[in-house]
Amino acid sequence: MPEPLFELIDVVKKYDGRTVLRVKNLKLDENKVYAILGPNGAGKSTLLRLLNMLEEPTSGRIIFQGVDINRAGESARLRMRRQMCMVLQNTYLFNTSVYQNVAYGLQLRGVRGAELERKVKEALSFVGLSDFGSRRALKLSGGETQRVALARAVAVRPQVLLLDEPTASLDPDSVALIEKLVRRIHESTGVTVLIITHNLFQAQRLADEAILLYNGEVIEKAPVAQFFTNPQSDITRRFISGTMIY
Ligand SMILES: Nc1ncnc2c1ncn2[C@@H]1O[C@H](COP(=O)(O)OP(=O)(O)OP(=O)(O)O)[C@@H](O)[C@H]1O
Ligand SMILES: [Mg+2]
Repeated sequence: MPEPLFELIDVVKKYDGRTVLRVKNLKLDENKVYAILGPNGAGKSTLLRLLNMLEEPTSGRIIFQGVDINRAGESARLRMRRQMCMVLQNTYLFNTSVYQNVAYGLQLRGVRGAELERKVKEALSFVGLSDFGSRRALKLSGGETQRVALARAVAVRPQVLLLDEPTASLDPDSVALIEKLVRRIHESTGVTVLIITHNLFQAQRLADEAILLYNGEVIEKAPVAQFFTNPQSDITRRFISGTMIY
């Protein structure tokens, strides 16, 4: 068995003494697409922020590529962080041009000159925004903003792409486009994708496996076909049939 990309061991996250996440053991493999599901407040975004190293667990260990991310030194942590990219429901773009927004992450990683220009153009072309380089980022529509966010992410060729409800405020055509782009990024680079979504159809369209979080705990993790047709947990059954009682 290859080593998992991520392993969480007894991870607990508390805010103000209140436990919002309690994950005994969770392994995430390379080259997979995971859908993170669960009701509001279940701990989905918290889980992504821990994986992305934006926050630290209150206790427990998170192992990334064999290294405990909270025990690694600063330079190792920086290296790990640079292999991860996150796209949020309402992405915050910088108040500069679209080109500059995509270039920024590459510049941080030391890319300069002709290589920088080539990579920015490739990324913009990938999301169908080749002509948008000089546009003001903050003037874009919601769908265009999410495409720039994805371009920014693919430009740096991350190992992990973390998507927190990336299509929640988009119209159906834009949703379909973002899904197509995510699938294409995954297929062409093998990047591991974790996507939080409340859209169960989206989970089925995109993911290899679904993970249900409920009250901060992982209730079920299974291949999507099994998750949606033959769930093992009663909670999963109620969640996918829309009869969960909160
Ligand atoms: N910085 C914080 N300080 C205090 N409580 C927090 C903080 N961040 C999250 N929480 C709490 O932790 C719990 C889990 O929040 P989280 O945002 O992870 O849920 P979620 O599953 O992403 O929900 P949603 O579907 O609404 O986005 C919630 O009860 C939330 O209020
Ligand atoms: Mg959330």
